[in-house]
Amino acid sequence: MNILVTGGCGYIGSHTVLALLEAGHKVTIIDNLCNSSREVLERIKNITGINELTFVEMDIRDADGLEIVFNHYKFDAVMHFAGLKSVGESTKKPLEYYDNNVGGTAILLNVMKHANVKTLVFSSSATVYGDPISVPISETAPTGGTTNPYGTTKLMIEQMLSDLYASDQSWNIARLRYFNPVGAHESGLIGEDPGGIPNNLMPYITQVASGKLDELSVYGDDYDTADGSGVRDYIHVVDLAAGHLKALDKLEGLATYNLGTGKGYSVLDVIKAFEDVNDIKISYKIAPRREGDIASCYADPTLAESELGWKANKDINQMVRDAWNWQSKNPTGY
Ligand code: NAD
Ligand code: WQD
Repeated sequence: MNILVTGGCGYIGSHTVLALLEAGHKVTIIDNLCNSSREVLERIKNITGINELTFVEMDIRDADGLEIVFNHYKFDAVMHFAGLKSVGESTKKPLEYYDNNVGGTAILLNVMKHANVKTLVFSSSATVYGDPISVPISETAPTGGTTNPYGTTKLMIEQMLSDLYASDQSWNIARLRYFNPVGAHESGLIGEDPGGIPNNLMPYITQVASGKLDELSVYGDDYDTADGSGVRDYIHVVDLAAGHLKALDKLEGLATYNLGTGKGYSVLDVIKAFEDVNDIKISYKIAPRREGDIASCYADPTLAESELGWKANKDINQMVRDAWNWQSKNPTGY
């Protein structure tokens, strides 16, 4: 297929572009590079040996520019990763998050409609479940109760997509709810490149391991979990990317899938796995809980397995190994 990938230079987008190219698809990336680097394109070409990858530096809110791109390339489908994703930043700059994520998606959908491209795979998030009533979380669990503007943008976009589908059932839309993506391609050539001090656990750990940061703060040891630290469903980014291809293959109507492993690991479990696999000590201290955090969040991933034939294959040891491989080969990112 001929596929447009918005945000394809970013962390998850780049791994998905790689998988799409390897599966024989034709790919065009649109990215404004606000949180990524052009260097990603060279790395993808190096890994795949495929040079036919088109890149357009553009903001998805540029409706006129988008229309020209759609008219020129005649896409079959769109994978939409572009957006802002920092929870903390979203509380300080809510309007930028609503404008980019919600406004940008509305503009993209409008251009798709005019171009009669009605197949979309969208990056949603487990954050739409808010503080879940119980775990594992299935797709039928209630959504809402998001604790920050970022999460609310994902909820609003999900609603926009379901309203769009209700108005016109010739659309095919997958809303993929990612749990906690970590790790990197095994080559160590592409990976997560957070600017500044990372907010997320895995890049923080890898930067403590490399000596860039002194010590990890474990945010809370008094949650109602086995060891008191927060539990999450970490999923290898290569597995996550594969989920997008399966969703595209099977897509019919409006569908919503959890993409997670179904296994929960605590912060202390992740530290231990990292230390054991990579043979590096991680210096950490117990710190107060982080505002807005929940105790436990992991997926019931059975729907994706039964309907898409997809399930995550890579375990926590591969995640911490590949995260460290990327960090140690790219100490300053791209
Ligand atoms: P990322 O920041 O690495 O990638 C996003 C890409 O979009 C970047 O390359 C950025 O430059 C680009 N971009 C942002 N706004 C744009 C705009 N207006 N026009 C064009 N390009 C724009 O983030 P990621 O981790 O790869 O996340 C991809 C998607 O998945 C996002 O929508 C994110 O909200 C969602 N998601 C991420 C996680 C996670 O933990 N990483 C979890 C759940 C959902
Ligand atoms: C994981 C665990 C922390 C950092 C976020 C977004 C979510 C989704 C994925 C996009 C928690 C603990 C963390 C640290 C720590 N993104 N932690 N010390 O918060 O589960 O999810 O990213 O959609 O919307 O909220 O991920 O990696 O920040 O935290 O102890 O320095 O690690 O408290 O228990 P989170 P995370």
